[in-house]
Amino acid sequence: MRDIVLNVNGKTRHARIEERTLLVSLLRDTLGLTGTHVGCDTSQCGACVVSIEGETVKSCSVLAATLPDGTAISTIESLATSDALHPMQQAFSECHALQCGYCTPGLVITAIDIVRKNPEGLTPDLIRKELKGNICRCTGYLNIIQAIMRGAAAMGVPTLAAEGEAQ
Ligand code: FES
Ligand code: FES
Repeated sequence: MRDIVLNVNGKTRHARIEERTLLVSLLRDTLGLTGTHVGCDTSQCGACVVSIEGETVKSCSVLAATLPDGTAISTIESLATSDALHPMQQAFSECHALQCGYCTPGLVITAIDIVRKNPEGLTPDLIRKELKGNICRCTGYLNIIQAIMRGAAAMGVPTLAAEGEAQ
């Protein structure tokens, strides 16, 4: 067993874990942050994506015990305030960018990262490429891409239709 201390969603969290504990298991089973999902056992689906020190990471591929003490982790639970959804969450809602919603937490965390990495602007083609690590088994992606375009605009990043493509 190993004692670890992490900064999760701005709060210091202590835990005693087995060395083999995956970060996603720590978040869900020990810390009760069940917004982060497990959608596969092959590190392909992206349902488990969280932010570690500002980088999006598949939390099913990280051994929690390997994280240095004090590592900052942000999960989907960090985004909304008591008054309002994050603009990207709001856009997913307005664009009906989910059906079962299983993939949505990972997609929203990834979408915000896409916006941050591309301040000069987004196109649907760029979003498609950036979403290669996130699988949605329900929606067909059109509404997800529309939502990310809308969320990006709400976050102050310009959006442009790709050549020959309607937004
Ligand atoms: S549960 Fe992590 S990639 Fe699928
Ligand atoms: S909405 Fe069901 S997997 Fe994406």
